[in-house]
Amino acid sequence: MSIVTPSEARPPAIVARGLHKHYGTAHALRGVDVEITRGEIVAIMGPSGSGKSTLLHSLAGVIAPDAGEVRVGDTVISALDEAGRARFRLTRLGFMFQFGQLLPELTAEDNVALPLMLAGMKRKSALVQAHEWLDRLELAGFAKRLPAELSGGQAQRVALSRALVTSPEVLFADEPTGALDSLTAEKVMQTLTEVVRTTGTTLILVTHDGRVASYSDREIFIRDGLVLDPAAAGAR
Ligand SMILES: Nc1ncnc2c1ncn2[C@@H]1O[C@H](COP(=O)(O)OP(=O)(O)OP(=O)(O)O)[C@@H](O)[C@H]1O
Ligand SMILES: [Mg+2]
Repeated sequence: MSIVTPSEARPPAIVARGLHKHYGTAHALRGVDVEITRGEIVAIMGPSGSGKSTLLHSLAGVIAPDAGEVRVGDTVISALDEAGRARFRLTRLGFMFQFGQLLPELTAEDNVALPLMLAGMKRKSALVQAHEWLDRLELAGFAKRLPAELSGGQAQRVALSRALVTSPEVLFADEPTGALDSLTAEKVMQTLTEVVRTTGTTLILVTHDGRVASYSDREIFIRDGLVLDPAAAGAR
């Protein structure tokens, strides 16, 4: 468990410069610069279609920007090919999505163990680590259940366990509570932020929900593929 130190002592977790991304004629990112400090919780906010998911996917190496650079720790991931980025994501990053994206045919414990097994760990060892996370997120009694046999909040906690089981440096979450009622969403956000704070994990999430964003240290506003000036955003 790492100790949270003052931000000036922490190196950046992610630096992105001059990001551009086109989808056909759509110009989804139009020159985005972002710097995120290690251990920081950042919420990316903006209207539908403004480029939030495209930015998140570029920072995580899910997609490669058409121009610009993304550095995670010491690695320029925008310079890696697709296989290199996939390897980097598997071993160094964690992901959580709006609908959890648990594999429906796998039990909760196997869903959580999967990233470790994909990275080459034997199932037995992977299950031991999976159970540590399931216990920690109060899911010990649900390990053998299929996703369809879980509530929305339980499924999101399984998804969170799966995202954290590899001890990622950065956790990415796209609308992590988008499919949940507001009470369950609050609980998932409390668990999510408590866990990333105690582990020192950097968290970058996308949300259009101010209550979700209120758990962050900082909000990044994006509109039409451009990050709004923080001062301007503050004066909205
Ligand atoms: N695969 C794609 N093919 C074509 N256009 C795309 C694709 N993905 C995104 N776009 C376009 O790029 C722009 C930014 O999309 P993006 O998904 O990043 O928005 P968003 O802010 O995440 O929106 P939402 O809040 O609705 O999820 C939009 O105009 C969208 O239509
Ligand atoms: Mg989106």
